Amino acid sequence: MKQYIKVDEWNIIEEGFIAGYNKISESIFSLGNGRMGQRGNFEETYSGETLQGSYVAGIYYPDKTRVGWWKNGYPEYFAKVLNAANWIGLEIRIDGVVLDLHDAAVSDFRRVLNMKEGYLERTFTATLSSGKQVAVKATRFCSIVDDEAGALRYSITPLNFDGEIEITSFIDGAVRNQDANYDEGFWDFVESSIHDNTAYLTLRTKKTGFEVCTGMLFHVYQQGRKLASAVTAVNKDKFVGGKVTVAATRNQETVIFKYAANQTSENHATEELLAACKKVVDKVAAKGFAKLKEEQLDAWAGKWQESDIVITGDAAAQQGIRFNIFQLNQTYTGEDARLNIGPKGFTGEKYGGSTYWDTEAYCIPFYLATADQQVARNLLVYRYNQLDKAIENAGKLGFNKGAALYPMVTMNGEECHNEWEITFEEIHRNAAIAFAIFNYIRYTGDVAYLAEYGLEVLIGISRFWAQRVNWSEARKQYVMLGVTGPNEYENNINNNWYTSTMATWCLQYTIESLAQVTDAIIRKTSFDAGTEVAQWQHIIDNMYYPEDAERGVFLQQDGYLDKEQILVKDLDPSQRPLNQKWSWDRILRSCFIKQADVLQGFYFLEDRFDMDTLRRNFDFYEPRTVHESSLSPCIHAILAAKLGDGERAYEFYLRTSRLDLDDYNNDTEDGLHITSMAGTWMSVVEGFAGMRVRDGQLQFTPFLPESWQSFAFSTRFRSNILKVEINKNRVVLENKEGGDVAVKVYEDTFVVKAGSVVQLNNRDLVK
Ligand code: BGC
Repeated sequence: MKQYIKVDEWNIIEEGFIAGYNKISESIFSLGNGRMGQRGNFEETYSGETLQGSYVAGIYYPDKTRVGWWKNGYPEYFAKVLNAANWIGLEIRIDGVVLDLHDAAVSDFRRVLNMKEGYLERTFTATLSSGKQVAVKATRFCSIVDDEAGALRYSITPLNFDGEIEITSFIDGAVRNQDANYDEGFWDFVESSIHDNTAYLTLRTKKTGFEVCTGMLFHVYQQGRKLASAVTAVNKDKFVGGKVTVAATRNQETVIFKYAANQTSENHATEELLAACKKVVDKVAAKGFAKLKEEQLDAWAGKWQESDIVITGDAAAQQGIRFNIFQLNQTYTGEDARLNIGPKGFTGEKYGGSTYWDTEAYCIPFYLATADQQVARNLLVYRYNQLDKAIENAGKLGFNKGAALYPMVTMNGEECHNEWEITFEEIHRNAAIAFAIFNYIRYTGDVAYLAEYGLEVLIGISRFWAQRVNWSEARKQYVMLGVTGPNEYENNINNNWYTSTMATWCLQYTIESLAQVTDAIIRKTSFDAGTEVAQWQHIIDNMYYPEDAERGVFLQQDGYLDKEQILVKDLDPSQRPLNQKWSWDRILRSCFIKQADVLQGFYFLEDRFDMDTLRRNFDFYEPRTVHESSLSPCIHAILAAKLGDGERAYEFYLRTSRLDLDDYNNDTEDGLHITSMAGTWMSVVEGFAGMRVRDGQLQFTPFLPESWQSFAFSTRFRSNILKVEINKNRVVLENKEGGDVAVKVYEDTFVVKAGSVVQLNNRDLVK
């Protein structure tokens, strides 16, 4: 854990340059706009430790899998988000010496991520080996208005000399992924050009053949005037730039404005890429930096209006939650159903930038409440569009007749994860995808989605479950063998309660949804209603779920109680995290649980269980859970809140809220935990505010963490936007948009009339 980020409600601030933390900061200061992303790398040369990362959404490389022992069914490759051409690059030479903070004495270093307005600013003073001193201020953003573009302003002021500054503004595509399996480059050169102050570089991905054209235009200003300096072309391998030399005077600012854009063959025919890229570069350059920044501010104001959570009384918590919301909004905007949310978003290479069950299980609720319903819908449509591949994927494993197994990890619908115990066995992902359909419809009321897209997916998934279980003659029940639950610290187990419970839930939900089935769906899926429904119902009625009657708990899997039962509190702290300290064998044999597993089921299907059952299971599993997945504490926070244990709910919330800002798990340098950020949001809205939708009605069972004076957020709900504030004395509901709406708070229902505010005194509320 590190606490070098200054607490501030709207800004992420680093003061003083600690080279050893640079990669952590590069993750934290990442920028994105849903279509492109950029780690917080320096614009100028940096020869110290760094993880360079510029990413373009939807562009990936199928890196051939490297495993010791190949197993049939393994995918050929692991898709990787690509480190793409660096568009921020500037090489600055001062009287011949390269400005490089690794070689210079650095003072007054300050890096600020302005979350309110959506830009990054860095200031510092550097004394070069030549003794020459410059003050630098660099500001940049990825535009969320022109989402194919980014812009930067870089100013250099000589502090103790008059001299020459040589500036090379460039696009560098000679980049590599750190996680390349065979250390190869993933890009081939297509073309480049430089005319005066404008340059373009087009690269093509190997194998996948995606083309990306990156363009840039730069200007240099002094004393408010654009300089007409001659530009010398710089051409190298996959690198193109323009060099100018300017005379600089002591205490006089030289300012570089750089505008850049990425266009991809996903959106334009390859022969039109260059023209499309030019169009965006010209457009943003014509707007100019100040205007772009102003538009950025306005656009972010709109995003904050919808998605902010305002906490009073705890600045660190405020900063934490805003950082999470900021990053989620930077990662996914919902405008393109081909895109999704990688666990690291655009902030690192880990997890390949691909889609996991995280999207459906953790991210959907955030986007449902904070954005137009089209955004969450697009996340669902993404899976619909990959249904054929999911059927193919199941086929490769021996399933048939339209059974669909969605991949554990994917870019284009094909599986690209290759550890057998996860690829073949962590099949609960299928259930999360079905649950997201249910969740979306429960929240939005968009039942038409079933006939349009949802049912085909549900039928495919249900067919998979029906084939994946088998009848046990010994038990005279259905069993599900050889699975891995969400707790990846157990593999190849039989009858994982969560997976089996969610499987029969899927079957049930599909049967209920058949009321919306159309002839077209029946034809397309060759659905045999009579036989298939009867089979599904038989499975629902005869499924085996492991339980321990004596303790009154569901068992995570068969044999869980055979394990030596030790509690996490009795573990020597030096042994943690287990995944870094223990052998895999020891982990697998231990009772320790990586993340919510049985409790994940209690979260999804909460209305099936009474409070006593929840309490018994929570009290049993929580003390055995090590939370070594960042996705775990939020589920525990929500359930603890439900059980009325505000203190523990808050404790769990704290573990996720500042996970990356404080580098809690010592892994922020790899990238941010984007999908778990949605879990942090869930902890506040579903945990502390107790927000639920039941019977088409919004409900709250709020409590206020002790150290907060209040918290407030807005939520969309069908045609309404409601603002909810919880303070020490009241719950305040404001109906900001839409007609009258009935809302339940604890046990009572109140009508909040259109445009009005209802203030409920705590003492009048039954808790
Ligand atoms: C978790 C998975 C998760 C993945 C990506 C793993 O550590 O166990 O549940 O899908 O990370 O976030």
